[in-house]
This record gives sequence, C-alpha cells and structure tokens, in this order.
Amino acid sequence: MAKLSTCFFLCYLLLILVPILAQSRQPYGEEEVLQKEVDRVTNLPGQPPVNFRQYAGYVKLPPQNQKALFYWFFEAQDGAARKPLVLWLNGGPGCSSVAYGAAQELGPFLVRSNGTRLTFNKFSWNKVANMLFLEAPVGVGFSYTNNTEDLRTLGDQITAADSYSFLINWFKRFPNFKSHDFYIAGESYAGHYVPQLAELIYEKNKGSSKDSHINLKGFMIGNAAINDQTDTLGLVDYAWSHAIISDQLYNTINKECGFKQSSNQTAGCAQHLGGFMEAYSDIDIYSIYTPVCLNSPGRTYPKLLAAPRLLTQHDLWHKLPSGYDPCTEDYVEKYFNRKDVQTALHANVTKLPYPYTTCSGAIRDWNDSPDTVLPTIQKLLKAGLRIWIYSGDTDGRVPVTSTRYSINKMGLKIKEEWRAWFHKSQVAGWVETYEGGLTLATVRGAGHQVPVFAPDQSLSLFTHFLSANTLPSSRF
Ligand SMILES: *[C@@H]1O[C@H](CO)[C@@H](O)[C@H](O)[C@H]1NC(C)=O
Ligand SMILES: *[C@@H]1O[C@H](CO)[C@@H](O)[C@H](O)[C@H]1NC(C)=O
Ligand SMILES: *[C@@H]1O[C@H](CO)[C@@H](O)[C@H](O)[C@H]1NC(C)=O
Ligand SMILES: *[C@@H]1O[C@H](CO)[C@@H](O)[C@H](O)[C@H]1NC(C)=O
Repeated sequence: MAKLSTCFFLCYLLLILVPILAQSRQPYGEEEVLQKEVDRVTNLPGQPPVNFRQYAGYVKLPPQNQKALFYWFFEAQDGAARKPLVLWLNGGPGCSSVAYGAAQELGPFLVRSNGTRLTFNKFSWNKVANMLFLEAPVGVGFSYTNNTEDLRTLGDQITAADSYSFLINWFKRFPNFKSHDFYIAGESYAGHYVPQLAELIYEKNKGSSKDSHINLKGFMIGNAAINDQTDTLGLVDYAWSHAIISDQLYNTINKECGFKQSSNQTAGCAQHLGGFMEAYSDIDIYSIYTPVCLNSPGRTYPKLLAAPRLLTQHDLWHKLPSGYDPCTEDYVEKYFNRKDVQTALHANVTKLPYPYTTCSGAIRDWNDSPDTVLPTIQKLLKAGLRIWIYSGDTDGRVPVTSTRYSINKMGLKIKEEWRAWFHKSQVAGWVETYEGGLTLATVRGAGHQVPVFAPDQSLSLFTHFLSANTLPSSRF
C-alpha cells in the first residue's frame, strides 16, 4: 500500500517534470516551429490558387529584440524538400525585396492593375528553388525597429549583421531547410549586400557549431554596384555609346571629372554631370528603350538624379525602375498598403506610423558603403564559392560597360572566352567564364531589373547557375 502510494506520488511528479525538463532543453525550438504555422499565408487577396506553401511574418533579432525583419517565403512549386534555398535581396539602399523581387520580378505572384489583382508568374524562380525574400535593414518595407535611434546607425555593416542574425533565427523556425544548399541572389546595390552577407556567413561558419552552420554554396548578382570608379566610368561610356549624350559633353566629362583615374569629383565637374543627368531626364535610365510611366507625376526619377554630386552616392540608388508596365511600382505600393493584404501577410502588426513604400522614406543616414567590394568577391572565389555576375544590357544605371570594367579590374584568367548563349533558339545574351569559378553573363535587351524584361531567359540563367551547368552554346 505504502509502495504504491509512493509510486503514485513519484510517478505523478515524473509525469509533470519530464515534459518540463524536456522543454527547457529546447526552449526556442518548439515555440519557433509553432510560429511557422502562424506565419503560413492562406488567404492572400487577389491570389490565384496554387499547390505550394507560402509563409510571411517577422523574425525578431536578438539580443536587444527591438528590431524585427519581415520576410516572405515561397516553397518550391514541387519537390521543395530536395531543392535549394535561395535568399533574394534588392538594393537601394532602402528598397524592398518584397516590393521588387517578389511582387514585380521573379516571385510567383506579380501585382497587376492598380493593386487589385495578382497574376501567376509562369517564370517564377520558385520553379527551381525555395525562394526567401527579406526586407532589410530595419526601416525598409514592413521591417521595423522600436528604437528610432537604430535608423540613424544604418549602413552596409549593420545590414549584413542583421541579415545574418535574421537567417540564424529563421532557420530555427524552418529547421527542415537547414541542410539545404543555400545561395544568395540580388541586384543593383545588393552588389554590396550579397557579397558582404556571403562573407559574413563564410567567416561565421568557420567557428560555428553545427547548429548555426549555413550551407552557403554561392551567389549571383545582377546589374550590381561593385566598384565605384569603374561603375561611374562605365555609366558615362554607356550613355555616349548609346547615343544619349553628345560628343562634346562626353569629352568634357572625361576631361574634367577624371573618372578614368578615380571616383572622386571636383567642383568643376559637377556642372557637366548636371548636363549628363539632364540627358536622361525624359527616359528611364534603368531601361533605356521602354516607355516611362506617364500618370505618376510623383515618380520622375530624374528629379532624384538631379543633384550631380550624388552620382556616386547612395541617394542616387533610392528609386528603382519600372518594368514593361512602367506603372507597376505604383500598383505595388497600393497593394501592400491594403489592410487586408497586410493582415494576410502578418505584416505591420505594430501599426507603423508611415505608409508602405517600395523604397524607404524612413531611413535617414547611410553610414558606411565601401567604394569597392571586389576584394570580397575575390576572397569568396578563392574560398570556392560559385559566383555569377549578370547584366541586363539595356540598363543605363549600372550598365554592362560598368560590369565589364569592374570585372576586368580583378584581372582574372579567362577560362571560356566571350560567346553567345541561347534560349529558345535565340541569343539570350553573352557569357564569359573565368578561372576560379566566376561567370559573367549578359541578358540581351533587359533593363536593370532583368527578370521583369526577360522573364524566361532569367529563369534559364538562374537554373543554370543553381545546377552549375554552362549556358547553352548553340541554337538547338
Ligand atoms: C515593438 O513594440 C510593440 C508594442 O509595444 C510590440 O508589440 C512589438 O513586439 C515590439 N517589437 C519588437 C521587435 O520588439
Ligand atoms: C486605379 O485607381 C485610381 C485611383 O485609385 C483610379 O482613378 C483608376 O480609375 C483606377 N484604374 C483602374 C484600371 O482600375
Ligand atoms: C578620394 O578622396 C579621398 C578624400 O579626399 C581620398 O582619401 C581618396 O584616396 C580619394 N580616392 C581616390 C581613388 O583618389
Ligand atoms: C501600418 O498600419 C497603419 C495603421 O493601419 C497605417 O497607417 C500605416 O500606413 C501602415 N504602415 C505600413 C508600413 O504598412
């Protein structure tokens, strides 16, 4: 009798303690996996029906937990468990990967007609990979901080550190993707973000436990800012060679600005750069052969380009381009400002005091931005990462001339010489590969946001990048 009641008491204690002890060993894990189900998106307004899962929500950044970064994640359309995981980043600084990458460029749903409808993107990159879109740093899109001081300390370094911290915590919520091959892709100013984040992951992986190891395999950047001096030189040469500026202006800029020697500008050069900006004022510098949006008076890029001294400064990056429907950016802003859309995406839960914009109005300062990331790229090539740099060849902002000058600066040995690559029997662009794992590929007739202008060529490029296969070298 006594024995039985002892057991009753002890067994009862065990019954209570075992689950508690088990839980305290993994305090974070279960809560996070439950959060994953909370993040599931099931009721997105205007969305066509699909078979794959999507998730959206916030990841709070430790240790101070005042910052929360917003993500939107699409599992691959089929075989998600076997496909790689790819993080996509847009540039700016301050522009949103959700508003551009996901909703206008390469996500499965593209925003159309006034922000009332989403269309299914036949060439969505989640055909071949699990696609994660991140709004970084805080102040971009739905990502926020409760400490407004944070908005004054932003720069390249914080962006990389916070994005890394986001990833570590995102994997706690999605542990089943932890072992997948991981890649980063992005465009424009993400020419800084992507290599910088890759370098941070590479360094952190060295000393990390198995628990925080990220299976990084490589990255891909498009129309990317990577080296200020050659980027600027290429910008001017492109404008001249595409008949946008006069011989006189071209010669004066070359004489007075000295871009061939350095990225520094003298006061005397500023006046001529004003003329340069003026030449672009009636067309879209990001896509020189497509129309501009006429019924959007607030969105005239040249206004932002007007101050010549900004030529090599981050402010210039603030506004990104429009696509075939040059007004998509306006639709996207309308769409993400809808209350029902925000609810469906678990976004803006703290009622931010400003509206959603495609590029941030909340970020005031940008404190660090190195004038080159070429050393980082070279270091990561040596480390064995697969690196592809691509360029839409009708972009005037980070034109193909800039990219070629910048890559030449690295002095890499050519492995396979410049040649055409094909898609559906037509030349999709040109490609050159270098010893050590670097590929340069152009996309013919595409502007700054390549997937907008050449969706199926882009998907082909992305697919070949992931599989490390050479781009098709013949028509058939
Ligand atoms: C910010 O503050 C709001 C309101 O107090 C709170 O609900 C939210 O969790 C906080 N976010 C972070 C990242 O600390
Ligand atoms: C789009 O919205 C604007 C204002 O919200 C309205 O004037 C216009 O008629 C709408 N266009 C379409 C095609 O729905
Ligand atoms: C540009 O100017 C800064 C400050 O005057 C100087 O430190 C830097 O070396 C210059 N860069 C080049 C490439 O000449
Ligand atoms: C967040 O919600 C508030 C209140 O509904 C709204 O006024 C604000 O424009 C929204 N901001 C963003 C960034 O979505």
